[in-house]
Amino acid sequence: LAPRLKMYIKTATFLLCVFLGSVSSCCVNGRYYPRYHLSPPHGWMNDPNGFCYFKGEYHMFYQYNPMSSLEAGIAHWGHAKSKDLCHWKHLDLAIYPDQWYDQTGVFSGSALVENDVMYLYYTGNVNLTDEMPFEGQFQALGISTDGVHVEKYKDNPIMYTPNHQPHIRDPKVWEHDGSYYMVLGNAYDDYTKGQIVMYESSDKINWQEVTILYKSNGSFGYMWECPDLFEIDGKFVLLFSPQGVKSVGDMYQNLYQAGYIVGEFDYDTHSFTILTEFRELDHGHDFYATQTMKDPSGRRIVVAWASTWEYAYPERADGWAGMLTLPRTLTLTKDLRLIQTPIREIDQVFRRRLYSGKASAGKTVALPDKAGKVELKWDTPRNIKVVIESQNECQNVVISYDHEDGTITLDRGGDDAIRRTHWDPRGHLKWTIFIDASSIELSCGDGEVWFTSRFFPEGVVSVRLGEDTCVDKFTVHSIRRTT
Ligand code: FRU
Repeated sequence: LAPRLKMYIKTATFLLCVFLGSVSSCCVNGRYYPRYHLSPPHGWMNDPNGFCYFKGEYHMFYQYNPMSSLEAGIAHWGHAKSKDLCHWKHLDLAIYPDQWYDQTGVFSGSALVENDVMYLYYTGNVNLTDEMPFEGQFQALGISTDGVHVEKYKDNPIMYTPNHQPHIRDPKVWEHDGSYYMVLGNAYDDYTKGQIVMYESSDKINWQEVTILYKSNGSFGYMWECPDLFEIDGKFVLLFSPQGVKSVGDMYQNLYQAGYIVGEFDYDTHSFTILTEFRELDHGHDFYATQTMKDPSGRRIVVAWASTWEYAYPERADGWAGMLTLPRTLTLTKDLRLIQTPIREIDQVFRRRLYSGKASAGKTVALPDKAGKVELKWDTPRNIKVVIESQNECQNVVISYDHEDGTITLDRGGDDAIRRTHWDPRGHLKWTIFIDASSIELSCGDGEVWFTSRFFPEGVVSVRLGEDTCVDKFTVHSIRRTT
């Protein structure tokens, strides 16, 4: 396209976004809109991208279609920032699909922050169209020095890898001992097997492939998206989102999964020795496309898209679509399992205690504004059941624990209602449940098992203890003062 035409398209898109943004407050119906999770101001959100800490603030970019909440469309990067990971401020749209190499999508990627400069690596997607006789994915770079405006690198795209086309995407980049590393998700063998390819660079621009970090032999999906490799306590966690994994019993029940394997990684030889099987990070219905970052206090924090592909979420009719999970801090146990702890900052959101004390079956607490935090603690092993209910009963969520066989079940009603897994409490017998208008996140024990699921309640949302349930401590907080 001629540069002038491109400029017109960019200006027109910008004006349309400003217009949509300014009318969004009246267009977006708030009935399901999160009160304390990050969601787009209007339009469509999917994966978290470029999660980083920059000049004293956390930044979150995300896959964004500002034009419509009904479809993913052509991806842009939306942008928000926060001082505490709880209260987010929406910023201008960060990256537009306005170049030949990203014309059908500024796909997912990550941030590297160095000397107060933000390097944003992303995948430029090019689909086959009448005008474009070519399909492929390029890796590209955007640079920001003020944390608001992003300039595309002058010699973009920085990477095209003919041997891995056409599905090679979602760069996660980090620095180690003066060198830079990137992992990319890839489909090989004619889109039948997934793998993760690793690259190294000495200057952040020129990259050499160094190894295939890990690959499917054909029994574990046809494409692996959103890879992430990071070190915790001397071990390396490889987090990724495989597509095409068949369900086995209660495992892999969602269309696509998000999980991890743990291994040893040697930066000199690039060899990755696997120590565990693949484990799902979350057992709920709506959890995909994870991304982590390490913050200045040394925490490894993970977020995910708390939705998934190919599901008709009712919020889409309300002018917005998609939300992110709460940020969770990751730690590794001695037996190489990831523990997720809600970031400590989240407690400031829950301002008013509605109830705290012993409680038994039938005890019910209503949550003002459909949002709050619920904690249950019990001292000796027993069965537990909690119902999150509203005026439309078909959207009730029932969570139950059978302590004898160790299963925990979340039933959100409707089609494909049940998700279930084994919970073997390692420490405290407790649950923490975060409810936010159309989402529930359940953390079991000290964060060893999580369920993230969406539900769509109408009217007042209440939490009720189910039959035969008795807890030593039941605490319910709402997010704001009600008197
Ligand atoms: C994961 C994903 C990524 C891709 C992006 C496109 O949900 O498919 O692999 O970069 O979404 O929006």
